[in-house]
Amino acid sequence: MKRVLTGITTTGTPHLGNYVGAIRPAIEASTQPGVESFFFMADYHALIKCDDPARIERSRMEIAATWLACGLDASRVVFYRQSDIPEIPELTWLLTCVTAKGLMNRAHAYKAAVDANVAEQLDPDAGINMGLYSYPILMAADILMFNASHVPVGRDQIQHIEMARDIGQRFNHLFGAGREYFVLPEAVIDDAVATLPGLDGRKMSKSYDNTVPLFEGGAKATRDAIARVVTDSRAPGEPKDPDGSTLFVLYQAFAGRSESAAYADALRAGMGWGEAKQQLAARIEQDLAPMRDRYGELMAHPERIEDALQHGATRARAVARPLLDALREAVGLRPMRARAAEASGKSTKVSQSNPQYKQFRERDGQFYFKLTDADGSVLIESHGFANPREAAACFAALKQAPDSLDEQSSLYVVRAPRDSVLRALAAMAVPAGEGGQSS
Ligand code: TRP
Repeated sequence: MKRVLTGITTTGTPHLGNYVGAIRPAIEASTQPGVESFFFMADYHALIKCDDPARIERSRMEIAATWLACGLDASRVVFYRQSDIPEIPELTWLLTCVTAKGLMNRAHAYKAAVDANVAEQLDPDAGINMGLYSYPILMAADILMFNASHVPVGRDQIQHIEMARDIGQRFNHLFGAGREYFVLPEAVIDDAVATLPGLDGRKMSKSYDNTVPLFEGGAKATRDAIARVVTDSRAPGEPKDPDGSTLFVLYQAFAGRSESAAYADALRAGMGWGEAKQQLAARIEQDLAPMRDRYGELMAHPERIEDALQHGATRARAVARPLLDALREAVGLRPMRARAAEASGKSTKVSQSNPQYKQFRERDGQFYFKLTDADGSVLIESHGFANPREAAACFAALKQAPDSLDEQSSLYVVRAPRDSVLRALAAMAVPAGEGGQSS
């Protein structure tokens, strides 16, 4: 199972270029079999660039509504807000403490800000906050928290993914004691997705002020923007080369092969630019109209968006919490408890992260399992099962979903505080080179 994770910084309002270049392909990819997708709104990252609460609030809502309206299936994709997962900032700190300052000095975004200051003869760090400086660590936490293997991003983010790998590797090395706490992520760059040109033919981008709105302003706003796409001065009736035309590129981003071929033929045969714009606007509208309706519905009922995100947060935290517990344990943030026979110095680190699982048959002929902590104290003791497979399956289910641990279960008895049991289960579930398993 491939786990794909990507974050969307919640600044601004999505435009047509975001839809074609990011939203649509990501949603399509999330429907592939064998893929588990985590999509989240990087609203902590948004705070780095924006100190206007009203804009932060509006952008989060618009972006969430856009993704849902564009067809993101929140029952299939884990869709959440970064700021709803307290485990992420906690992990950020653990990672901050193993990240070399020198590594952050090399981050492109920080370096570009310093260069701009120097060019203006300002103090090199003028106007730079620690959020910008530590940005890559927060992003590493976003990714490592969920053991994502694949991270689709734009080219400008490749360095951040490499940093996440470096940081995760360093943590594994320092605290792993033979275990890999973190999967090292890979950036996925989709070269097939063309960047959409904007009104002036350059890449559609808010910084060029050449965007076509997606939902804001309704169909009219989209149509009006298309009317402003720059063309050459050929009159109706004159043949036009579709390949140099922004209108044709935009058309192809929505229409299939044969429709696009017909549009190109019409241009070659002299269709006027005005007509070409109308056809383009109509074709785009065909795709956008149903989504815009859903968008309007959601914006009118923000509580539905909130519900979807809360649901996502619960699912995300079910993954994040056990891993963070194991990490706290790994760095030594452990509950205080008496330890048996800890004299043997070096071995403690390894043994503490290794709870023991045992399956056995009793004289009554039934099959039992037991989970003990490294120091031998019992965490879970099962009742009798008719055969060994059932006993193993019961434990496997717990390992898979530690949160399903049930103090009232009729299959087993929980003998230790829930926290320590969950931690042990998480430790056993980590995809380890050598996990704590012994059966
Ligand atoms: N920095 C990313 C961007 O600007 C957004 C982001 C934040 C992200 N955290 C992430 C992307 C984790 C992928 C994975 O595009």
